[in-house]
Amino acid sequence: MEIDVDFAQASSWNHEMAERMRWLRENERIFWSEKTNAFIISRFEDVSFISKNNDLFCSGQGVLPDPRITNIGLIDEDEPRHSEMRGLINRGFTPRMVQKWEEIFQRITDEAIDEIAPKGECDFVEDIAVPLPLTLIAEMIGIRPEDRERFHQWSDAMIGSTGNMDDPLKVAAAGKAALEYFAYLTDIIEDRRKNPKQDLISILVRAKDDGILIQHHGYANEDAFGASRTDAERDMSNDELIKMCVLLLVAGNETTRNGLSGAMQLLIENPESRARLIEDPSLIPAAIEEMLRLVSPVVSFARTATNDTELQGVAIKKGQKVLMIYGSANRDAAEFENPDTFQIDRNAQHLAFGIGNHFCMGANLARMELRVALTELLRRIPDMSYAANGPEFGSSALVRSVAHMHVRFTPERIG
Ligand code: HEM
Repeated sequence: MEIDVDFAQASSWNHEMAERMRWLRENERIFWSEKTNAFIISRFEDVSFISKNNDLFCSGQGVLPDPRITNIGLIDEDEPRHSEMRGLINRGFTPRMVQKWEEIFQRITDEAIDEIAPKGECDFVEDIAVPLPLTLIAEMIGIRPEDRERFHQWSDAMIGSTGNMDDPLKVAAAGKAALEYFAYLTDIIEDRRKNPKQDLISILVRAKDDGILIQHHGYANEDAFGASRTDAERDMSNDELIKMCVLLLVAGNETTRNGLSGAMQLLIENPESRARLIEDPSLIPAAIEEMLRLVSPVVSFARTATNDTELQGVAIKKGQKVLMIYGSANRDAAEFENPDTFQIDRNAQHLAFGIGNHFCMGANLARMELRVALTELLRRIPDMSYAANGPEFGSSALVRSVAHMHVRFTPERIG
């Protein structure tokens, strides 16, 4: 097995990657990858150090594995601007807000399970993992119910270009989807300006009108999705409010979707642990942390060295990239005993949501979604098993992507 591959390329994330990462953890924890043009960071301690030292390893020059994609907003903003924006959006993620969304999410979950439970089979990805977080984030952003399918397609197309920037079709589809989504959001924003509600968009619109979120000028004619823009279109893609909505769509969707599929995969493959959770659902929140550790829905994020520095004795020059591999850090034997086993009461800290000042803003929301969905699934469909050969993985350098997972189970009797 070749150790150096392009870690930012989706196709590199195949069945060999787990073994490659193990080798790197054990032999070259700070590994210079010629093919990626970045250091690959595989150990828990180092991912943690880099994330906590944003002044040494900044986010402002891009965090996605593909360095051509920058300027997403918030996640690739440095201090003090980052904290300013984060403080603003935090208002949409307070425990009270999460509680409000929990009621809505419970309904979304019940409806999706009602649909599949009598059938005795489904594609877990298409029927559960995709619609649950998507519908919630659509409600949070204020997407009209009849537009959810389009919203789903935009989201898929936009994320489809990450790690596939050499595929002109995928890049073009991402650019088209982004433009359609931007135009759609402009309408919703105008509506909230006139009729403010208790939702995230209304908070963001107020911030824009107060001058906290701004419109940038003078970016190149190409944007993150590689599409050429007219002036009006460029204005939209430089608008921090719009960018925030794109970030939330992608961050809130693909991550939780793959977290949910990965969680169900672990439950199916570990029937004894599943039986314990069915018997005692109070163990579910701790089990979710263990699922997040093992699944690590986000594959990697990058940082850029702000100065010449050194990490574990390896010299890193100013401007060089480091790529943090969360799933590898979360299986580091120096941090976790028997790191590859699923122990629902392990109660260990993991890095699936990152750490430091860019720690995931949606962590509590995602935890709530996983808890509600898994509690309800285990209660109503306790005997899910694979109908085919188990999960079919999609390729992505950004999220651990499950494309399909056909399952069967005892149909729920109606009445
Ligand atoms: C299981 C689900 C999720 C996982 C594994 C996950 C993972 C992550 C990780 C690793 C980061 C750190 C980025 C960095 O350090 O550069 C992050 C940041 C972020 N996440 Fe999540 N996320 C999840 C769900 C969500 C949800 C549901 C939302 C919102 C609806 C969300 C919104 C964000 C935002 C806005 C940031 C940027 C925070 C900042 O830069 O200050 N995430 N997420």
